[in-house]
Amino acid sequence: MINSNILSKLTKADIIAEPFPHLAIKNAVEPELFETLSRTFPSENLVIRTDKPENNTLYLYPWRDAQEEDRLTTLWKEFAGQFTSRAFFLEIVRLFGDRIEELFHLSQIYNKPLEQFTIGLRKGGRWGTHLPENHEGDVTMDTQFCMNSPVTAPSRVRGPHLDNGRKLYAGLLYFRQPHDDSTGSDLMLYRYRSTRVPTGVDYDLDDRHVEHVKSVEYRANTFVFWINSLHALHGVSPRSKTNVTRRFLNVIGELNTHPSGVLFDTKRGQYA
Ligand SMILES: [Fe+2]
Repeated sequence: MINSNILSKLTKADIIAEPFPHLAIKNAVEPELFETLSRTFPSENLVIRTDKPENNTLYLYPWRDAQEEDRLTTLWKEFAGQFTSRAFFLEIVRLFGDRIEELFHLSQIYNKPLEQFTIGLRKGGRWGTHLPENHEGDVTMDTQFCMNSPVTAPSRVRGPHLDNGRKLYAGLLYFRQPHDDSTGSDLMLYRYRSTRVPTGVDYDLDDRHVEHVKSVEYRANTFVFWINSLHALHGVSPRSKTNVTRRFLNVIGELNTHPSGVLFDTKRGQYA
C-alpha cells in the first residue's frame, strides 16, 4: 500500500532557486517500488499506438484512459493515482504556495485560500481546454505515461520553451530503461539572455533568447518539478540514435477556470 506521495517527505529546503524554483530529486521513489513500476510501465503499444512512430517524438497516454486499462497493474493504478489526488495538490501548496501566490495571486482571484481549491481530472489531448469536464474543479490534474519514440536522427525532442499559460505546475518522473545506453536527453533549464522577458514570442523560444543554466540528467527515478511561469524555461538536450524509447511520467495541473484564460501571456511577456 502506498500511503504517502512523492512530495510528502520533502521540505522547502529542497527547492532550488535558480534559474527558477524547482525540485530535482534523485531516487525519489523507494528503489524496490521503483524497480517494480519500471518493469511494469505501460507498453509501447499502449502509449505510442502506431506502427510507424515519428523520429524522437512525444507520445502520451493520459490518466483518464489509463485508470480504466486492464493491462495496467493495480500497483501502477495506486501509484499514478497519487498525482491526481487532493493530497498531492495540498503538498504542492505546502511547498510552493508562497511562489504560486506571489506570481498569480490566486487566492485573491478565486476568493479562497489555495488549500480550498477543488481538483478535477483532465480529459482530452492538447485541445481539451474547453471540454466541460476540464472545468469541474478549480485545478485540472493529469498523470500522463509518456514516451519519446526511438531516435533515427540525433535530435532534441523539444528545444527551449515555456509550458502553456494554463498550466500551473509540471512534474517529470524519469523511467529510463535499464538497457538504454543512449546519450543526452537531459532536461535543460534556462534563463533569458536579457534581463527583460522578451515580448512577441510564442511558447517555444529561439536559442538566441535563452542561456543554459543547468541540466538535470535523464536518469531512472529522478523527479523534477516546478511551478510554470514566464521564467520556467526548459527543454531537452539532443538524444543520440537509439531504438530505446525514453520513458517518463508527466504530472500536470492546469487552471482552465482562470477568468483570464491563462496565467501569463508570452506574446506580451506579462502575467494575467
Ligand atoms: Fe515542457
